[in-house]
Amino acid sequence: MKLLVTGAAGFIGANFVYYELEKHPDDVIVGLDALTYAGNLETLEAALKNPNFKFVKADITDRDAVDSVFEDEQFDIVVNFAAESHVDRSIEDPAIFLRTNILGTQVLLDAARKYKVPRYHQVSTDEVYGDLPLNRPDLLFTEQTPIHTSSPYSASKASSDLLVQAYQRTFGFPATISRCSNNYGPYQFPEKLIPLMIANCLADKPLPVYGEGLNVRDWLYVADHCKAIDLIIREGRVGEVYNIGGHNEMTNIDIVKLIISALDKSESLITYVTDRKGHDLRYAIDPTKITNELGWTPETMFADGIKITIDWYLNNRDWWGNIVSGEYTKYYEKMYGDR
Ligand code: NAD
Ligand code: TYD
Repeated sequence: MKLLVTGAAGFIGANFVYYELEKHPDDVIVGLDALTYAGNLETLEAALKNPNFKFVKADITDRDAVDSVFEDEQFDIVVNFAAESHVDRSIEDPAIFLRTNILGTQVLLDAARKYKVPRYHQVSTDEVYGDLPLNRPDLLFTEQTPIHTSSPYSASKASSDLLVQAYQRTFGFPATISRCSNNYGPYQFPEKLIPLMIANCLADKPLPVYGEGLNVRDWLYVADHCKAIDLIIREGRVGEVYNIGGHNEMTNIDIVKLIISALDKSESLITYVTDRKGHDLRYAIDPTKITNELGWTPETMFADGIKITIDWYLNNRDWWGNIVSGEYTKYYEKMYGDR
């Protein structure tokens, strides 16, 4: 099998490349990435030593560049991770989210159709379902939950899902979609909650908690997301949406306190800051469909996953230290300076 993995130099894309190279050592993977602020070729250093992996620097909105990759390679499967992925950035500047997440997806769909790729997978998010109330723990997102977005990020992801479904219906395009809850693990960019809190804790910097810290996210270890996508692209039914999540709901403040305690720091670092605009209250996934149809269950419990993740950030300070000391510093000042 030959796979195209877009967004391969990002957090989940890179973890997926490593997962596939180990699980299916005979498969060939082409990783494509524009290397935006969130993409880091260093993350793929070990993969680049594998003769079955090749990297192409290209932007998914660049039709000529994308077409030429499809022309050169005969892909069996395309997995699209490439996206602008940070909600806070989408609130500051939505345009790039619409461009990459919607128009970029369209370019990939057109190329996959043109070159008759037998299978396309769109990596989506539970954020397309909007949010759930905090006082109704009985409610979970199922694949039937209506799309109801809150942020420019989630609106752009929902739009790309709708495009994929339109290509399915109109052209008989062979696609699947997965909608996963919040991921954590190695190689996550330190602008997202868990790596940001680890990095700030280690630098004894304030830990910016939005609002009262009571918003709930459903955390899944990244390798479990990769395992689910691997099952969907090989055994999932064309035309279907699969929700992915491990029933692990936690409030933000509990996550922050857990990180503080694991790193033996003081809770006095916690700083409550102005809430995110339109802040989704709670996400929670019902994964019954993927469990029943494909036998997927998460393997890494949160207590183990968070320990592995914290240890990884402790042991790989160069990887994120470079990021935190570079261009990202300016972003951090802009976003948190007067909050
Ligand atoms: P990320 O921001 O870490 O990585 C995104 C990657 O896409 C980066 O390497 C970036 O360089 C690349 N990219 C951005 N624009 C591009 C373009 N125009 N052309 C080519 N490459 C481009 O994001 P992530 O957390 O790894 O998320 C990957 C996917 O999974 C996204 O589609 C996201 O919506 C989805 N998702 C993420 C989570 C999560 O918790 N992180 C949960 C569910 C779904
Ligand atoms: P994030 O990692 O940005 O993921 P998402 O918004 O896609 O769920 O944020 C996770 C939660 O943590 C969310 O409720 C916002 C909150 N948060 C903070 O309280 N402080 C921060 O500095 C960040 C980045 C997030």
